[in-house]
Amino acid sequence: MNAPVMQGLNLNAPSYVKNPKLIAWVADMAALTKPAAIYWCDGSEEEYQRLCQQLVEAGTFKKLNPAKRPNSFLACSDPSDVARVEDRTYICSEKKENAGPTNNWMAPSDMRALLQTGKDGEKALFDGCMKGRTMYVVPFSMGPLGSHIAHIGIELSDSAYVAVNQKIMTRMGKAVYDVLGVDGAFVPCVHTVGAPLEAGQADVKWPCNKTKYIVHYPETREIWSYGSGYGGNALLGKKCFALRIASNMGRDQGWLAEHMLILGVTNPQGKKYHVAAAFPSACGKTNFSMLVPPEAGFAGWKVTTIGDDIAWVKPHADGKMYAINPEAGYFGVAPGTNMHTNPNCMRSLDKNVIFTNVALTDDGDVWWEGMEKDGGGLPDHLIDWQGKDWTPAIAKETGAKAAHPNSRFTVTATNNPALDPEWDNPNGVAIDAFIFGGRRSTTVPLVTEARTWMEGVYMAATMGSETTAAAVGQMGVVRRDPFAMLPFCGYNMSDYFQHWLDMEKKLEESGHTLPKIYCVNWFRKGDDGKFVWPGYGDNMRVLKWMIDRLEGTATGSENGFGVSPAYAEINWTGLDFSQAQFDSVTSLDKGAWKQEFALHDELFTQLAYHLPKELVETKAKLEQRLTA
Ligand code: GTP
Ligand code: SPV
Ligand code: MN
Repeated sequence: MNAPVMQGLNLNAPSYVKNPKLIAWVADMAALTKPAAIYWCDGSEEEYQRLCQQLVEAGTFKKLNPAKRPNSFLACSDPSDVARVEDRTYICSEKKENAGPTNNWMAPSDMRALLQTGKDGEKALFDGCMKGRTMYVVPFSMGPLGSHIAHIGIELSDSAYVAVNQKIMTRMGKAVYDVLGVDGAFVPCVHTVGAPLEAGQADVKWPCNKTKYIVHYPETREIWSYGSGYGGNALLGKKCFALRIASNMGRDQGWLAEHMLILGVTNPQGKKYHVAAAFPSACGKTNFSMLVPPEAGFAGWKVTTIGDDIAWVKPHADGKMYAINPEAGYFGVAPGTNMHTNPNCMRSLDKNVIFTNVALTDDGDVWWEGMEKDGGGLPDHLIDWQGKDWTPAIAKETGAKAAHPNSRFTVTATNNPALDPEWDNPNGVAIDAFIFGGRRSTTVPLVTEARTWMEGVYMAATMGSETTAAAVGQMGVVRRDPFAMLPFCGYNMSDYFQHWLDMEKKLEESGHTLPKIYCVNWFRKGDDGKFVWPGYGDNMRVLKWMIDRLEGTATGSENGFGVSPAYAEINWTGLDFSQAQFDSVTSLDKGAWKQEFALHDELFTQLAYHLPKELVETKAKLEQRLTA
């Protein structure tokens, strides 16, 4: 690549940036996107404060009352830009079959014509897309700086909101360049809100574009994002890099990039286990990772957070699988979070937080649905996430939500009082069990232990879940979400299943016990439409049964699907939960399972290309057991 001479625009690369490839790439991207200025982020606290102040002046941020919520801000997005856009997300592999049937695909050359080079006289989308704006150069490390497991990315973005969020979500700043050195590798990530400003044109508080493209080139490990400023569409280290690109790296290099929280659980004797759990978006990862065990019956038990959303898992020479959290902060769902459901999270949000799309109280603090349960009841008046007046009467009449259902907080992991001391150990933590869970109001029981790795992979691969507000589209529809990775696997899903199956051999060859695999469902509903299982802290009761199984002190019983707990094997101290209620969240209905297996068939038909035949064989056996 030759760095073109930029007319009238100073590249301004700081002297500590010594990577010629990086500098040439920034110059190329500036020539394409034509920003008014380039700003190289150093990741300092002073810089964070300055950019936040700029965002306040631009109207994007509102500074919250420092007496209530020190050093915190509220951003309210354009009402059209509130969640990931899965139908606008592309995996542009050279061959269509390598993206697989669950990903949108376009040939890289066609996508490049559309985004970068233009075609048939059509201007490319990125051509001049940053006009009138500053291009922020955001250097970040996914994983502890310099760790052998970590990878570096550089995000070029015309959004200061992205720059300050990346400061919280990743290890962002100058030190990344020391690790990168003269010839280190980085994943290039280009992001634009797609709203160029003509001279004299006034800006809006949340610029974005109706047209959106979230594009990944897996072979060249590049990310190009156009038109959205929100979450996973724009904070490119997260889903785009740490899952879609990293899953490709993991396949090639023999590790796993997963949509998983990681937690430590310590028993009263001081023995510690580590668990990684995959639940689809807005299905409980952040909550489970910060779980507070019930007061009664669980004295001495402790849960600590390593990560709340993404895990990179690598088999180690000692035969165990080690997981790191590549992120440094949480971009978590606000609604439903309160002192009863997730006290550790509430304490994490005391200060130094960026809130997006929650409601504003009259005294300059934030509010969202679920907070009324913290004793205050409903507030008399709020400004909702769209800037409108909100009162309990209006809400009752119109159903208007004060906070958007996918409203979120961005906060550094070190704010979490339950942060695990090993959370940024560059070697990660050894995983004892994997958990997979969907949001299912029927059919799927509270907890099942897979008898074998193979059956565990089957359960994960066929998992279904009701859709949530985390992605644009209809809510509450059951769809297959294999491994909670449907929107995040950067290559053919069937090859991904094979990759998981291959892990078994790899680990067995090194002579170690494989992590156990569990399948859970916190979301079964009763005839009244309410959740039967209390969830949240009470999920500890299920987690403890899993530990008992690891220690060999619970026998469980075969349920046809796998091993499930007997009522008496769960510690019920402090919770009034009858055998009948237990039955209603654990029962297996033959008719429902017939329908469920028909949906597995549908999935396997869709994924027929490269589908591991062992999965089809396992299905036949399980179906026989469950529906006979
Ligand atoms: P992403 O950040 O989108 O990946 O979501 P997540 O998987 O981290 O989900 P999160 O923990 O933020 O929970 C999403 C929603 O589910 C929140 O409104 C929670 O209050 C709710 N939730 C979490 N755990 C439970 C549970 O055990 N039972 C019930 N009923 N709801 C839960
Ligand atoms: C998810 O949707 O799974 C999230 C939020 O964690 S986002 O960063 O938007 O992907
Ligand atoms: Mn997520």
